Amino acid sequence: MIRINEHYLKLKASYLFADIAKRVAAYQQGKPNRPIIRLGIGDVTRALPEACITAFHRAVDEMAVDQSFRGYGPEQGYDFLRQAIAENDFKPRGADISADEIFVSDGAKCDTGNIQEIFDVNARIAIPDPVYPVYLDTNVMAGRTGSYRGGRYEGIVYLDGNRDNGFIPSLPDASVDLIYLCFPNNPTGATITRQKLQDWVDYAAANKAIILYDAAYEAFIRDDDLPRSIYEIKGAREVAIEFRSFSKTAGFTGTRCAYTVVPTSLMAATASGDTHSIHNLWSRRHSTKFNGVSYPVQRAAEAVYSDAGKVQVSELVDYYMANADLIRMAMQDLGYDCIGGKNSPYIWVATGGDSWNFFDQLLEKTGVVCTPGAGFGACGEGFVRISAFNSRENVTEAMDRMRRALA
Ligand code: MLT
Repeated sequence: MIRINEHYLKLKASYLFADIAKRVAAYQQGKPNRPIIRLGIGDVTRALPEACITAFHRAVDEMAVDQSFRGYGPEQGYDFLRQAIAENDFKPRGADISADEIFVSDGAKCDTGNIQEIFDVNARIAIPDPVYPVYLDTNVMAGRTGSYRGGRYEGIVYLDGNRDNGFIPSLPDASVDLIYLCFPNNPTGATITRQKLQDWVDYAAANKAIILYDAAYEAFIRDDDLPRSIYEIKGAREVAIEFRSFSKTAGFTGTRCAYTVVPTSLMAATASGDTHSIHNLWSRRHSTKFNGVSYPVQRAAEAVYSDAGKVQVSELVDYYMANADLIRMAMQDLGYDCIGGKNSPYIWVATGGDSWNFFDQLLEKTGVVCTPGAGFGACGEGFVRISAFNSRENVTEAMDRMRRALA
């Protein structure tokens, strides 16, 4: 009989957010009339910005006419979008990134999950704890870990986040090859300063390691001193890949558009010591396994950078950040310590005790869904994540219910 990839058997039975959805569905069956408020998975609730919708419609109309119809596009993305990204997301921040270093894709989840396959199966991987589960699970699937024991996979160098370090992990003691970092952080909402990020870049350069930098939440940074891109940091072009997304920034979770930056100066070696361009490998992988994001979606994403788009996106971000303020203040009033929520749409709340138990109790008593910290790793135990992505009415109602139930 054909054999399976047995590394999959090391994974926990289901993906965190699928697990939560199952529990919520079971709860809803028992209480069909109780309106649930979802502050669990970070899924946006507001409509796409008008500028994006207008561009989207116009592009769909182009597809209706033979003369302007488009079939396969360039796998790496249309030039109009790659240029707009380079001009608007990097140039103004002094980050030296050109359009041809940008790979447009259908999601940062896919890209952060797929990127590991261009690296050696024996590469030593450093992963923060708590962490967005995709980084870890995809390395488990690829066979880079041993078994799961005591809440952790053997063979991974875990970078512990905790109250003492403000969920900014220290540099690893051991030398590693690939380092996953995410700032503003999912799940904790913690942010990193320029100096701390410089330390990571310097570490990577000294150890010939590569940083996989997930900046999907950079649009939520309100403090101008914080870096939005790792390429604002000296030396990063030689050691880092960056992932960005239109999902949370502009409401594209259902529309799907993101991008990954792989500088042409990023190199890695073969076993015999020859160096190769990571940009070329990723480009090869992308054109073999991906046929590009649809033309109308790329036009909609391009509109994010129009004058009207910029205003509308910033209104969207402000809206969710006002929700984050409400959540943070309500949780603090209830006596909980909070991290995040200031430059991030996630509020990381120290509840103490078993986080799945807190999740169940909160759902039972209030009908509000959060995400248990333990789902993001052993260091997440004792915390829950509350997402600011919902309507103002729902967030206000959720906080009222929590005040009544938890005070
Ligand atoms: C989250 O809630 O952590 C994110 O929405 C998941 C994702 O972006 O895939």
